[in-house]
Amino acid sequence: MTLDLEAPPWSAPAVGTAARPIRPRRLRRTPALRALVRETRLHPSMLVAPLFVHPGSGRSEPIQSMPGQARLTPDLAAQEAARLADLGVGGILLFGLPEEKDAIGSGASADDGIVQDALRRIRALELPLVTIADTCLCEYTDHGHCGPLAVDGSVDNDAALTRLAATAVSQARAGADLVAPSAMMDGQVAAIRAALDAAGFEQTAIMAYASKHASAFYGPFREAADSAPAFGDRRGYQMDPPNGREALREMSLDVAEGADILLVKPALPGLDLVAAARARFDLPIAAYQVSGEFAMIEAAAERGWLDRRRATTEAVTAIVRAGASIVITYAAADLATWIRDER
Ligand code: PBG
Repeated sequence: MTLDLEAPPWSAPAVGTAARPIRPRRLRRTPALRALVRETRLHPSMLVAPLFVHPGSGRSEPIQSMPGQARLTPDLAAQEAARLADLGVGGILLFGLPEEKDAIGSGASADDGIVQDALRRIRALELPLVTIADTCLCEYTDHGHCGPLAVDGSVDNDAALTRLAATAVSQARAGADLVAPSAMMDGQVAAIRAALDAAGFEQTAIMAYASKHASAFYGPFREAADSAPAFGDRRGYQMDPPNGREALREMSLDVAEGADILLVKPALPGLDLVAAARARFDLPIAAYQVSGEFAMIEAAAERGWLDRRRATTEAVTAIVRAGASIVITYAAADLATWIRDER
């Protein structure tokens, strides 16, 4: 096409006409062009790997519903943390399976508890990753609910606050950089912040599970952590999945109570909330690709129905595209390896 240098620019054919069609495909032509215009990139340092810790030593027990994941004793959890740090993974999130359970979840706040033990061993390695402790009671109560029960069988919110605060303090004492309250008790962030400050842990940050829905996608986790409720369900404290405005209200409350990071869970079923959280708040936004989201991809990949690497990468990239700068995912080690291989 020859340019008519005499013609003023406003006489050029309008875009989208036959003479000057819009061609977005120009920037998709080669891998190099696609890389140049890529809007979202994953980095290992934004990934957090959950670890399940059980008692004993030298014992790794595969989790059936979560291929490639295992319950690890504290010594093996420390080894795994070192491997993850080597891969450049940003953090680990610890869950514990205690030796014994009771009505108030005493094991959660025990200074020699399972997560505390693992934290101390990991801290001793001085690894360049962030140690995060899930602060909840459901793995430690004999009834499997996230707090002590009231006489009517419901979870006693304010009794749970005392227990959660004690748990967070013991986790901080054992070396957690971040505590991550996931019980969905009203006022849990404020209670934990006050207790941490009173105990001298004003530098321990809180990653609040601010938006946590009563999701079907936690199924495999409850097997992994042996934390399924013995009766009833969690709908009396976790949010009803259809509610989004309520999720934003929960986030505002957690910001006001002193949260340092806001977490949305589950991630893909809550992608609208990840985007809304990013737009509304100026704290780091984390999202948890939960056990069921992971297991779906694994199960389909096992059958040859999905390409595991591509599906995993696409799902986690979508979570970041929506606005999360931290992603908790069981695929953290694999993703870190894949990201490294790409270079
Ligand atoms: C503890 C907790 C749960 C998960 C994270 N913290 C279980 C639940 O709420 O039932 C789920 C994580 C996952 O599914 O991967 N309250």
